[in-house]
Amino acid sequence: MWIFSSAVTCSILVTSALTSALGQTASFEPTDFDLARAFLDNGVDITTIPALQGLATVPALGGLVGRSTNTSTGCSIACSSLQLLFNSTNVINQQSNATYDGYTKSYWSVQQSSVAPYCIFKPSKATEVSIAVLISRLTQCPFAVRSGGHAAFGGASNIQGGITIALEKLNQVTLSADKKTAAVGPGNIWYDVYTRLESQNLTVIGGRVSTIGVGGLTLGGGISFFSNQYGWACDNVISYEVVTASGVIVTASQTSFPDLYWALRGGGNNFGVVTKFTLSTIPQGLMWGGGRLHVETEFPAVIQAFYNLGLDSGRDTAAAQILSFAYAKGTRFASCDLQYAEPVANASIFAEYLAIPNTIMDTTKVRSQADLTAQFNASNPSGLRETYWAVSFKLDKDFTDFIQTTFFAEIAAIADAADLVPAATLQVITEPQIAHMSQRGGNPLGITPASGPLILLNLNTMWSDIADDARIQAANSEIIKKTVAEAGKRGLTNDYIYMNYASQFQAVIPGYGAANQAKLKEIASFYDPTAVFQTLQPGYFKLDGAPDSNTPQDTSGRSNMTNEEIQK
Ligand SMILES: Cc1cc2nc3c(=O)[nH]c(=O)nc-3n(C[C@H](O)[C@H](O)[C@H](O)COP(=O)(O)OP(=O)(O)OC[C@H]3O[C@@H](n4cnc5c(N)ncnc54)[C@H](O)[C@@H]3O)c2cc1C
Ligand SMILES: *[C@@H]1O[C@H](CO)[C@@H](O)[C@H](O)[C@H]1NC(C)=O
Ligand SMILES: *[C@@H]1O[C@H](CO)[C@@H](O)[C@H](O)[C@H]1NC(C)=O
Ligand SMILES: *[C@@H]1O[C@H](CO)[C@@H](O)[C@H](O)[C@H]1NC(C)=O
Ligand SMILES: *[C@@H]1O[C@H](CO)[C@@H](O)[C@H](O)[C@H]1NC(C)=O
Ligand SMILES: *[C@@H]1O[C@H](CO)[C@@H](O)[C@H](O)[C@H]1NC(C)=O
Ligand SMILES: *[C@@H]1O[C@H](CO)[C@@H](O)[C@H](O)[C@H]1NC(C)=O
Ligand SMILES: *[C@@H]1O[C@H](CO)[C@@H](O)[C@H](O)[C@H]1NC(C)=O
Repeated sequence: MWIFSSAVTCSILVTSALTSALGQTASFEPTDFDLARAFLDNGVDITTIPALQGLATVPALGGLVGRSTNTSTGCSIACSSLQLLFNSTNVINQQSNATYDGYTKSYWSVQQSSVAPYCIFKPSKATEVSIAVLISRLTQCPFAVRSGGHAAFGGASNIQGGITIALEKLNQVTLSADKKTAAVGPGNIWYDVYTRLESQNLTVIGGRVSTIGVGGLTLGGGISFFSNQYGWACDNVISYEVVTASGVIVTASQTSFPDLYWALRGGGNNFGVVTKFTLSTIPQGLMWGGGRLHVETEFPAVIQAFYNLGLDSGRDTAAAQILSFAYAKGTRFASCDLQYAEPVANASIFAEYLAIPNTIMDTTKVRSQADLTAQFNASNPSGLRETYWAVSFKLDKDFTDFIQTTFFAEIAAIADAADLVPAATLQVITEPQIAHMSQRGGNPLGITPASGPLILLNLNTMWSDIADDARIQAANSEIIKKTVAEAGKRGLTNDYIYMNYASQFQAVIPGYGAANQAKLKEIASFYDPTAVFQTLQPGYFKLDGAPDSNTPQDTSGRSNMTNEEIQK
């Protein structure tokens, strides 16, 4: 049987790690890193786990046990070891059929639900996450980490044949005594965070759809209704509790492991598993918000209002907007989602939007933030095939119209796909948002006041038939290609690609700029010298390139046609 030690060695390890961070050694992880010892620091004696005795002895790895050369054998050993340590309630394998299938169905997209992990591990505390990372290293069984499970593409937070670490039990929401910060576990969805804080007339900077997870959104950036006032989610994190590659748990903040703190503000899953986010709270009572739908004849007025508000957002930072062009059942429409941080209807900053006639639907009203996120949740159902793509451009009115035209032209060619709902969602990365990116020591996104304001385009499409995947992805790829090419001609290109909206075919980290990418790689090699989070956790946006290099190609000949020609 395994032994839970008194874990006194922990403080010694953290002290030596601190010395490393101060630059006295080349790496956070000692070159003579002892895996067996790292387990002992978490209270686990691996010599007592029968399944691990199946591994070959490798003296170089601390003299005890070493890797399996077969991933499937490695994962079998890893999962049975986890099950022995944490029981079948917390470690679900394919034999526990209904529980396993219930778990995989809980992802937002069908592409993620279709991924079959060897087992699912639900840790209850940071040391248990640490044990899982160490078991992956020991057995070479790959893993994925899941918070809210809303990343769209397969393998982003679920892993075929590996260990999926589901963080749902790390679901604390705890206000500090002075109420200035909230400690939030990555097992939370934003709805639960908001409802817990609203009784105190407080909130935090987080997602705008109730079911989004705290983990993915915050690690990739995070745009909130209140970002014009306070900045993005990553710019409102006071500290991160992180399980590093060597299993050591550290708190990264502006004063403790500041390089790691900087990297986590947009660097995604490349640096560790975050087990706690300490977020700055903001005062927030009721707000105003909802959506207004317009038909095609009003598109010019909608674009004018979008552009002017984007440009002018410094005038009243309580205001926020999301503009979506969408197509459903043969109709083109524009959905103007407007939000105001105060319980004030029809604030004057929205005058241009509110003057647009022929509104076919209007759900705006005074309500709570949680209520508004629940309304957005209703229009983003799970259980469908999904793809998200992202690109950014310098803010320009005529170009906004070009995006709209290109989107509808490309969509026309795939309109017969079953249950197709495509949308081109436009937001502005505003000057006030950008100004907040330099607070608390800055972030690695590569967005500076010199670049903004920017249009953030998110192409998001739902459909149901796997047979349509290739042509739908090709159409999305074409829209990106054509808009980027046209932006080039107009001098409006911008390299930043928003991680949280990007497809598996896009290279996110290189878009942060060469210097930021190089710095992120340097930080990763310091905290994770054996590249655990690059190779043993292969899913999502790594420090180089795109997750999938097979960019979809359009074979219909549309590539060489103008939008007008495609429409005919
Ligand atoms: C319907 C919908 C609405 C959205 N609304 C918004 C919005 O308002 N604002 C916005 O900015 N974005 C929004 N997004 C984008 C959203 O931020 C991303 O989809 C994000 O990845 C979702 O986070 P998650 O935790 O739910 O996803 P997951 O799929 O669980 O995780 C995404 C990635 O983050 C990694 N990860 C998650 N938690 C951790 C952790 N604790 N430690 C290490 N790695 C971790 C995972 O391994 C995975 O690679 C929306 C997306 C959807 C589908
Ligand atoms: C790995 O082991 C599994 C069973 O444990 C076996 O089915 C598979 O063929 C092995 N793969 C290789 C490449 O040896
Ligand atoms: C499994 O462990 C949990 C604690 O995480 C405990 O509550 C539960 O009773 C255990 N279940 C079994 C079947 O042993
Ligand atoms: C569970 O059983 C159903 C019905 O027999 C089957 O379709 C499904 O593939 C099984 N799931 C697993 C994980 O074995
Ligand atoms: C929250 O704000 C409302 C309205 O201003 C007020 O009535 C209530 O007392 C406040 N609650 C707390 C806990 O401060
Ligand atoms: C806000 O404007 C809408 C029409 O766009 C109107 O129905 C509503 O009464 C207005 N509310 C207030 C408080 O002025
Ligand atoms: C989100 O929507 C789904 C499906 O419509 C619903 O089952 C779920 O309860 C909603 N969750 C939240 C938190 O709004
Ligand atoms: C489209 O144009 C490219 C060059 O821009 C050319 O290589 C390609 O053959 C053309 N394809 C078609 C279908 O005309």
